Amino acid sequence: MGDRANASRRTERQPRLLGALQGQSLDPPPIWLMRQAGRYLPEYRAVREKAGGFLDLVYTPALAAEVTLQPVRRFGLDAAILFSDILVVPHALGQSVSFLEGEGPKLEPVTCVSDLKRLNRDGTGEKFAHVFETVARVRQEMPADTALIGFCGAPWTVATYMVGGCGSADQADARLWAYRDPAGFASLIDILVETSIAYLDGQVRAGADVVQIFDSWAGSLPEDAFDTWVVAPTRRIVEELEARHPHVPVIGFPRGAGVNAARYVEATGVEGFGCDTGVPLETMRALAGRGVTVQGNLDPLLLVAGGPALEARVRQTLEALQGVPFIFNLGHGVVPQTPPENVARLVALVRADNGKR
Ligand code: CP3
Repeated sequence: MGDRANASRRTERQPRLLGALQGQSLDPPPIWLMRQAGRYLPEYRAVREKAGGFLDLVYTPALAAEVTLQPVRRFGLDAAILFSDILVVPHALGQSVSFLEGEGPKLEPVTCVSDLKRLNRDGTGEKFAHVFETVARVRQEMPADTALIGFCGAPWTVATYMVGGCGSADQADARLWAYRDPAGFASLIDILVETSIAYLDGQVRAGADVVQIFDSWAGSLPEDAFDTWVVAPTRRIVEELEARHPHVPVIGFPRGAGVNAARYVEATGVEGFGCDTGVPLETMRALAGRGVTVQGNLDPLLLVAGGPALEARVRQTLEALQGVPFIFNLGHGVVPQTPPENVARLVALVRADNGKR
C-alpha cells in the first residue's frame, strides 16, 4: 500500500473516495451508487422530458451536468458519476445508436471487418467535446471534497452492443465473431481501446478525478477469451492512462468475472475493483488483501425492498470490510423502481447516523 499512499497528493479537502483508492481504510467508507442519476428520481424524469431523447440529454452539457449533480445534492454522496452512456463511444465513431423508450439501445450492427470501414476514428471530437464540457461544468459546481468519476465501457462490453445491435442475454454475436475471426475482432477491439483512451483522457483533462471502466458482460467468456478480450484491452487502457495521468485512479468493474477476479486485478493494474452482487464478502476482503481497493456490492433489489433486509445486509457488509480499503456501492446499477427514500436510508446507515453502530 506504501507506494500508492506515497503517490497521493494530499490536500486538505481531498475527496474521501480518493483516500480509499489510495489504499486508506475509512470509517465510514465513502459511498456512491452506479446509475445514481436516473429514472427513479422525479427530478431526473423532469429534465429528461425537457431534453427530449436520451442522447439529447447526454449531449446537452447544461442538462447533463444538472442530472449528474441531482443525486449528489439530494443524498450528499461522496462522488458524482458523469451522466453519459457507454454507447457514446460507438455513436461518436459514427455508428447509428438510438435509445427507444422501454426497449433499451438499438445500434446498426457491425458484423465483419469490412463493416469497420464505416467507423470514423478521427470523427469523435465533436461528440466527445459535449461530454468534456459536462465534466468541466460539474467539476466547477461541486465542492472540492466530492469526487467526480468519469467512465467508459470496456472494449469487450461495448463491442457486444456494436456487434449484436442491442443488449442480449448471451452476447452470442460478439462471441461468435471472436471465435471465428479473432484477427478481425481484434481490429474492432483495437479501435475501441484507442478511442476509449482518448475519451477517458479528455474526461480527466476536463476535471474527472477517478475513472471507472464498465465491463458489464465480462462474465460471458471462458478464461482464455477473458484474458484476450477483457483483461488485455483493459490493461492497455489502464497503462496508457497511468502514463498520462499517474494520480488518477482507475476502477475496473468486470461484472460476473467470478474466480477470474484475482487475475483481472493483478494483470490490469487497476487501483479499484468493482464487485458485482455475486462476489462473497470474504472474497472481497481477500481481494483487498492483495492491494486493491474493493467497491460494491449490495444487491440493487435490496435497495428496492428496503426495511430490515436492507439494514441487515448493510451492517453485515460494513462489518465484513472493516479495516480494509473499501467503497460502498451496489453490485450493479440503481433500478428505476427504487424508492428514493431507501437511498437516503442507505446513506444514513452507511454513515451510522442511525445511532446503532
Ligand atoms: O451511473 C450513472 O449514474 C452514470 C450514467 C450511466 C448511464 N449508463 C446512464 C443511463 C452509466 C455509467 C451507464 C453505463 C452503461 N450503459 C452500461 C454499463 C453498466 C451497466 O448497467 O451494466 C451499459 C451496459 C449501458 C447501456 C445502456 N444504456 C442500456 C442497456 C440502457 C437501457 C436500459 C435502461 O435502463 O433503460 C441504457 C440507457 C441509460 N443509460 C439510462 C441511463 C440513466 C436510461 C435512459 C432513460 O432515461 O430512459
